[in-house]
Amino acid sequence: MLKYTTVLFDLDGTLTRSEKGITRSALYACEKLGFTGHTEQELKAFIGPPLFWSFKELIGMDEETAQRATEVYRERFSTIGWAENEVYTGIISLLRSLKKNGARIAIATAKPQVFAERIAKKFGMAPYLSAIIGPGFDNKHASKAEIVKKAMDELGGHVVMIGDRKFDIEGGQANGVDTIGVAYGYGTREELEVAGATYVADTVDELADILLGDAPRAKGVFISIEGCDGCGKTTQREALVEHLAVRGWDVSMTREPGGDDVAEKIRGILLDPANEAMCAETEAYLYAASRAQNVRTRIRPAIDAGKAVVCDRFVDSSVAYQGGGRGLGTARIAALNDLAVDGTLPDITVYLRMDPDAALARRLDASKPDRLELAGEGFQERNFAAYEEFYAGEGMGRVVAVNAAQSIEDVTSEMLDKVDERLDALGV
Ligand code: TYD
Repeated sequence: MLKYTTVLFDLDGTLTRSEKGITRSALYACEKLGFTGHTEQELKAFIGPPLFWSFKELIGMDEETAQRATEVYRERFSTIGWAENEVYTGIISLLRSLKKNGARIAIATAKPQVFAERIAKKFGMAPYLSAIIGPGFDNKHASKAEIVKKAMDELGGHVVMIGDRKFDIEGGQANGVDTIGVAYGYGTREELEVAGATYVADTVDELADILLGDAPRAKGVFISIEGCDGCGKTTQREALVEHLAVRGWDVSMTREPGGDDVAEKIRGILLDPANEAMCAETEAYLYAASRAQNVRTRIRPAIDAGKAVVCDRFVDSSVAYQGGGRGLGTARIAALNDLAVDGTLPDITVYLRMDPDAALARRLDASKPDRLELAGEGFQERNFAAYEEFYAGEGMGRVVAVNAAQSIEDVTSEMLDKVDERLDALGV
């Protein structure tokens, strides 16, 4: 049972860290108006006070220039700055757990509602929210207390208001509900205590403990990345990890073969060019052995802790390389891996699709080949054919195919859009 069935979150400093958009837009306005030599770090003082005041008092502009600077700032903020946001690590896991336990969740913000809606959607929070409440065109200057009241009227239930500043705490108190101050945002613990917050949490984990108590937590997500040698997997994996982190996931990265110390030793045997005499069957068992270890020591514990696990290659690599490339049969290799994974399969598999000729051209420019990459004529073609057949045949909802033969930026954006879509669908 949850202590609170309706959970209202302030946005800036509670769900998201918005300083980049603010400081960069302030820097842009300063430079555009000839006030050079300032730094993003120094302009953090812009978070909180009214913009006009900051340009005047902190930068030393006269009234007219400060007014103009406010407009220049807004131009950049409304097009670029609003998206220069990061969700605090662990927030997505918390929203998932709250939703799993039946809570109604809303954003109650002083930011214009349209921006809050855009941010919630772009950063993957929207699927968990019952409402997003902020000032609209009709009530531009609504106070926090009015916003909280509106949210309460809409959602009912036993309400708690969570925020990083005293205004959030006061907004909750004005409506007679409990409040939680979060000291990881833009206020201080002292400010929140003086305001009389019911609880103060120093971290997202502490906030989760207050809200969830003993209630069951949601599991994380498991995302694997697949593709032929040379498809650009490493670069795209890094982009994916960064993307998930910005969206509030606590990310755990692993790769196969490998994982913990034991699995890394198996990796060493598998990739060593000196092991020319290794039979295909031995190879298949070794990949499965490394995987069995990785699943139990790395992947499952991270999923159970609510993290996003990104695994560079998983069972499908064995199906393609040992089943197809080595000719052991895709169905047999899938069966051989059953015990290794014992039901732990990815929620999403990113398949970086690229035909072997294009991939070869890329690999020729790259690093020294390992044992698998030296496997001879037709090997990569058979791997590719096996991937294609496997993914086409099973009609698996988890596979997201991405055209990997485009520019790096285009591959990244196609991949991230598709992954976001899948993640949103998992959240509903
Ligand atoms: P690695 O250096 O990690 O290459 P990549 O960046 O292409 O993933 O080496 C992994 C090699 O092992 C790669 O050639 C694919 C192969 N492999 C298999 O043959 N079967 C498997 O089950 C896995 C996980 C990898």
